Amino acid sequence: MSKIKSAFFCQSCGYEAPKWLGKCPSCSEWNTFVEEIVEKASKNVIAFSGETKNAKPQLIQSVQKQEEERTNLKDPELNRVLGGGLVPGSIILLGGDPGIGKSTLLLQLAISEPLKVLYVSGEESERQIKMRADRVGLTNDSCYLLTETNLQNIVLHANEIQPEIIIIDSIQTLFSTHIESSPGSISQVKECTAQLLRYAKQSNIPIFLIGHITKDGSLAGPKVLEHMVDVVLQFEGDRNHIYRLLRTIKNRFGSTNELGIYEMHGAGLRAVENPSEILITNTDKDLSGIAIASTIEGLRPLLVEVQALVSSAAYGTPQRSSTGFDAKRLNMLLAVLEKRCGFKLGSKDVFLNIAGGIKVDDPAIDLAVAMAVLSSNADLPIPKTIAFAGEIGLSGEIRPVNRIEQRISEAEKLGYKQIIVSKYSKGIDLKKVNIQVSLCGKIEEVVKTIFA
Ligand code: TYD
Ligand code: MG
Repeated sequence: MSKIKSAFFCQSCGYEAPKWLGKCPSCSEWNTFVEEIVEKASKNVIAFSGETKNAKPQLIQSVQKQEEERTNLKDPELNRVLGGGLVPGSIILLGGDPGIGKSTLLLQLAISEPLKVLYVSGEESERQIKMRADRVGLTNDSCYLLTETNLQNIVLHANEIQPEIIIIDSIQTLFSTHIESSPGSISQVKECTAQLLRYAKQSNIPIFLIGHITKDGSLAGPKVLEHMVDVVLQFEGDRNHIYRLLRTIKNRFGSTNELGIYEMHGAGLRAVENPSEILITNTDKDLSGIAIASTIEGLRPLLVEVQALVSSAAYGTPQRSSTGFDAKRLNMLLAVLEKRCGFKLGSKDVFLNIAGGIKVDDPAIDLAVAMAVLSSNADLPIPKTIAFAGEIGLSGEIRPVNRIEQRISEAEKLGYKQIIVSKYSKGIDLKKVNIQVSLCGKIEEVVKTIFA
């Protein structure tokens, strides 16, 4: 009997070591090494390297360009994040928290496409999937279900059915008989992905993989996985809210700046075509503590509502709480407001929320955050027809932000009458816009413009 080969793998980054280690030298995580059995044979399957037979170097000009024929999907949001359709033979990894709707998204894709789709599930039974399909209310006769976790069997079935799209739910449940460690372990996940990758390239069938996410939010299993696949999508959102964002983290065939927005309903996910309209509360009255920011998520302009509540601090240490916005950045903005606008930082509790349960990283939201805080503090509402777009610097200056024209035109499209932007913004053609653009250089000026 040959000796069983084993190695230790970091479950966080996939680093391989011959001995157990307390701390991973690659990602510096503690206590992440687990022994896994590996066979020698697995050495040659790290990634797909194209044709192995005598490849010769050739001039880049002489390489024949092939127009990729992309498949246009029925789902406009998915099409957009994939960079304009599905590329044949590509591997797409879809990550996201449990219960966010990954299986629902791909099942909807499977049933709504007129293409032949093989939906492989290692997590749910056929009946459970059928129940979900009924719930979503879609049906067609070109979607095949398979509950299987053995990769070799899956490939056999795929060869037989010859689907046009394969969906695997999830990569962590698969195992390959070439490797002895258990499903979900780093070496199995790596091996199965590598085999699927080769299968996709040989057969030209695009494959969607669902991947689980670890506690700290990265794709479970290894980063290695992200390197191997062509496209990495992340499905995120607050489970208690109905909105879900589909982001591109990596895309070999398109831009990573794309964003898809969905609503989760009782009957499945629905693409949101005009997100700005629904992210903003429609009330008749002007309420204090609310400011509208014209942000850009990916390449899409998005108007979001920033809500702030400022109240007198009951305890010695004032409370700060922020949802959907970086808490450190909030503290910084509050300090700027204290210095520039006489906001009494030490005696006020501040709560901040971005409506709709979405997270915003765009610095252009700063101005709306600051104005929402001041509005709540003074209990003076900001007129509902005003939007903001500007970053705030430490000295209280309003800094210009990118794609200002797009932000302005989105606010105009949604019926806002005025937008406050930095006076240092470049490339605004005031003649072209039908909205009052107020140029401000300092936070004090904005306060004067709004509350005067
Ligand atoms: P699911 O796709 O199973 O999530 P994942 O595969 O990412 O773990 O989605 C499960 C959640 O979605 C579940 O909490 C219920 C909700 N849901 C709806 O609200 N409406 C629906 O039509 C469906 C199918 C699910
Ligand atoms: Mg699932």
